[in-house]
Amino acid sequence: MCGIVGVLGKHEAAPILVEALKRLEYRGYDSAGIATVNGGKLGRRRAVGKLVNLSDLLVHDPLPGKSGIGHTRWATHGAPSVSNAHPHQAGPVAVVHNGIVENYRELRAELAENGIDFQTETDTETVALMTEFYLKSGLSPVEAAFKTIDRLQGAFALAFLFDGRDDLIVAARKGSPLAIGHGDGEMFVGSDAIALAPLTDRITYLEEGDRAVVTRTSVEIRNEAGEIANREIRKIQLDQTRTDKGGHKHFMAKEIAEQPVVVAEAIRSYLPTGSDRVVLPDTDLDFSKLDRLTMVACGTAFYACLTAKYWFEQLARMPVEVDIASEFRYREPPITDRTLALFVSQSGETADTLAALRYCEGKADKIVSVVNVPESSIARESDLALPIHAGVEIGVASTKAFTCQLSVLLMLALKAAADRGTLDDDALADHAAALRGLPTLLNAALDQEEAIRKSAQRLSEARDVLFLGRGLMYPLALEGALKLKEISYIHAEGYASGELKHGPIALIDKHMPVVVMAPRDAVFDKTVSNMQEVMARKGKVILVSDDDGIADAKDGVWSTIRMPHAHASVAPILYSVPAQLLAYHTAVAKGTDVDQPRNLAKSVTVE
Ligand code: M6R
Repeated sequence: MCGIVGVLGKHEAAPILVEALKRLEYRGYDSAGIATVNGGKLGRRRAVGKLVNLSDLLVHDPLPGKSGIGHTRWATHGAPSVSNAHPHQAGPVAVVHNGIVENYRELRAELAENGIDFQTETDTETVALMTEFYLKSGLSPVEAAFKTIDRLQGAFALAFLFDGRDDLIVAARKGSPLAIGHGDGEMFVGSDAIALAPLTDRITYLEEGDRAVVTRTSVEIRNEAGEIANREIRKIQLDQTRTDKGGHKHFMAKEIAEQPVVVAEAIRSYLPTGSDRVVLPDTDLDFSKLDRLTMVACGTAFYACLTAKYWFEQLARMPVEVDIASEFRYREPPITDRTLALFVSQSGETADTLAALRYCEGKADKIVSVVNVPESSIARESDLALPIHAGVEIGVASTKAFTCQLSVLLMLALKAAADRGTLDDDALADHAAALRGLPTLLNAALDQEEAIRKSAQRLSEARDVLFLGRGLMYPLALEGALKLKEISYIHAEGYASGELKHGPIALIDKHMPVVVMAPRDAVFDKTVSNMQEVMARKGKVILVSDDDGIADAKDGVWSTIRMPHAHASVAPILYSVPAQLLAYHTAVAKGTDVDQPRNLAKSVTVE
């Protein structure tokens, strides 16, 4: 959470910082701020709320200077307010921070004992005050920053700027990502390459514990032990960092519409043309030598894992455990050396998922990740990272990353089935054909947008909504409910339809819309029985099904959403589209901030 940037440039820093922050706003938008050095003096501008408020402030109250740091905040310690907004300044030092300083109370107490006062409720102010304290003790800016960094526990990406030092930024990374951008007589710092893409295509990713002394013409990186560390300068693909809406009203709408293309790309990457066998970049991975699969993720990625559990169990007859990363990491589950540990993450930076991965290091046979950002921490710390090829996802609500994750996980399950001999050649060919036909079906699902928009119009008046599904549609019911609540703020729950009568049916009355995800599959009749139980209690059913399903079960429903027929294994990928569009159009009807819903951030890099 939070995005940070820094620039030692040739031109005015403020517009460059604001532009870079715009590209990081997906990480948080509770407040934004910048600091620059001009004529040797530090100055700051900060504003509550979205970046546009800071931009407006800078129009009326410009901040000159060619060196600066900036921040877009997702509040952890202290409410969104100007005084809690970064950069935090203590005398001659300004600091921006992404992460949480876990021992800030202890450090605050120590500073208080030295007669130092606090102006904010944040953990980050402690970093600025501690650095000032060390500066006053006679240390140089670099020494003071390094000594402060040594005192910090928790997760952080930091950038320090100093009075009188127009050519210096000190940067550090532990637990939160940070990149250095190399220009021509200019240097940049950013939470990710997307922020720096318009400025340079030459990037160095700091590694865990690294700290960097940055000037316009040099970067000196030291590891946690203080030794000089050589870190590679990589050329980033600028087309990977495109962040325009492509004519759509919202990034989320664009990302939903992109799914036929990106899913096709994901499938092409692992299912070579003319073959029915899934090919992975690492031929070492042999599922027949494994006893168990442990899958760990958060949020939407967790629901992708829950779906994959059905595939691995049914297709590859493989025992699977699926866990939420924030639970897994503290439960200390036993992991054997015949376990494959699999981590799924769009960003590849989710703090809990990364911590869970580290827990499995040295215990599991192999650590595999399914990620969208190939340069991310999770990808880099895995034995094998499988990219999902979704392209940059900006909307906070994950859409195309989910369907690409599902596609890659299904292919992984088919590889497991082939390795373990649980599916014969004909069955493998059947699944491969279903996958190859999926992009066409996704297009057909997108063609239903107008019907879905009409159902969403009705949903937008509800206070609570239930999503029901059985079998492979159950995790999708959970995902549909998550999508709806995060962008429309309507309370929604997903349930296994068979579980309804064990409690939630008490909620059903004429005010309760119930979205039933039910392709005409092996469990369709059972789901329809549950749907009848809802309608008998006046619940308003939106039935999402195919022609056969709708023909069989449409009587008495509130509305229907028609999907094309699909092979059972790819149905959850296809039915993701109506789940996403329902949430999207409900949010649009309610007028909420679709791409940047309140209280959320795209990349959750704190616990
Ligand atoms: O980057 P990750 O896939 O690790 O993120 C996990 C969740 O934070 C994420 O899926 C979140 O739940 C989304 N907002 C859901 O739309």
